[in-house]
Amino acid sequence: MKPSRVILASILFIALLAVPAYAKPIIIKFSHVVAVNTPKGQATEYFKKLVEERSGGNIKVEVYPNASLYDDTIALEALSMNACQMAAPSFSKFTSFVPQLQLFDLPFLFNDANHLHNVLQGEVGKKLLGMVAKRGLIGLAYWDNGFKQLSANKPLLEPADAKRLKFRIMPSKVIEAQFKALGGAPQVLPFSEVYSALRQGVVDAAENPLSNFFSKKFYEVQSDLTLSNHGYLGYMVVTNKIFWKKLSDQQREIVSGAIAEATEYGNKLAMEMDSRYLEDVKRAGTTVHELSAEQRLAWKEELKSIYPEFYDVIGKDLIEQALATGK
Ligand code: LMR
Repeated sequence: MKPSRVILASILFIALLAVPAYAKPIIIKFSHVVAVNTPKGQATEYFKKLVEERSGGNIKVEVYPNASLYDDTIALEALSMNACQMAAPSFSKFTSFVPQLQLFDLPFLFNDANHLHNVLQGEVGKKLLGMVAKRGLIGLAYWDNGFKQLSANKPLLEPADAKRLKFRIMPSKVIEAQFKALGGAPQVLPFSEVYSALRQGVVDAAENPLSNFFSKKFYEVQSDLTLSNHGYLGYMVVTNKIFWKKLSDQQREIVSGAIAEATEYGNKLAMEMDSRYLEDVKRAGTTVHELSAEQRLAWKEELKSIYPEFYDVIGKDLIEQALATGK
């Protein structure tokens, strides 16, 4: 029996109703806490552009910079529940569930950027990328920011200069131990609260890569900055398994390809921006101090003394493997 015209019309009507649902773009909410004019901010914008172009608008990336959606700790919770699909928190923010990532917080671990990149791209980096799986996350890439510099409202030239200062820190036991070793008082605060905490004297001092120091105007609330390069701040770009599984193979290819290109783009920018930001910081009026070889050695000796405390937490093997990569 032939279907009646009424039935055919109903089928067509229902099919038409269903079209907008299929045509609805997939949304990637990408949360981060820094300004747009930073390496991470720019890499995220570039990722958005590539994904939207290549998917013909079928995948939309909503970027939320400056912690406008979540602070990193909340973003990681939201990611696990698929309330947010991507983020790129710094390594310290993973401490509660992948304490091994504190490897990158160890002071004076890397000889230079080459050493760091060899660790990130090698065995150690691969191992750590896989460890976020226990929270239902997928590590997609590592993004650079840069080496951290110390700041305060007085020159920090010798380790003893840090005594009794309240340092704002990220949630990392390694960074906590670092400032305790100097006789300082570390205090964990979200990045979005650092400016006002420095301004109100809740904390006296901080450690930041130059791009974060400049783009968040910390030069307004810190008179002195020491080019200590004592530690590194970088990011792991993460998504979640719930979202990833919902994508088709082709969509996953678009997202992975865009991440790979954004990584290259952002990491190149991170290198270039560092020297530009140094000039900006100087122009903004913060006094910049270089350390003499002896002064640097004194910081190094003092801070490296904390390593044994973390042999169990991070893994002595992992630390030794990272150190050996630089030889
Ligand atoms: C911080 O909290 O200082 C950093 O993690 C901010 C960032 O994302 O660079």
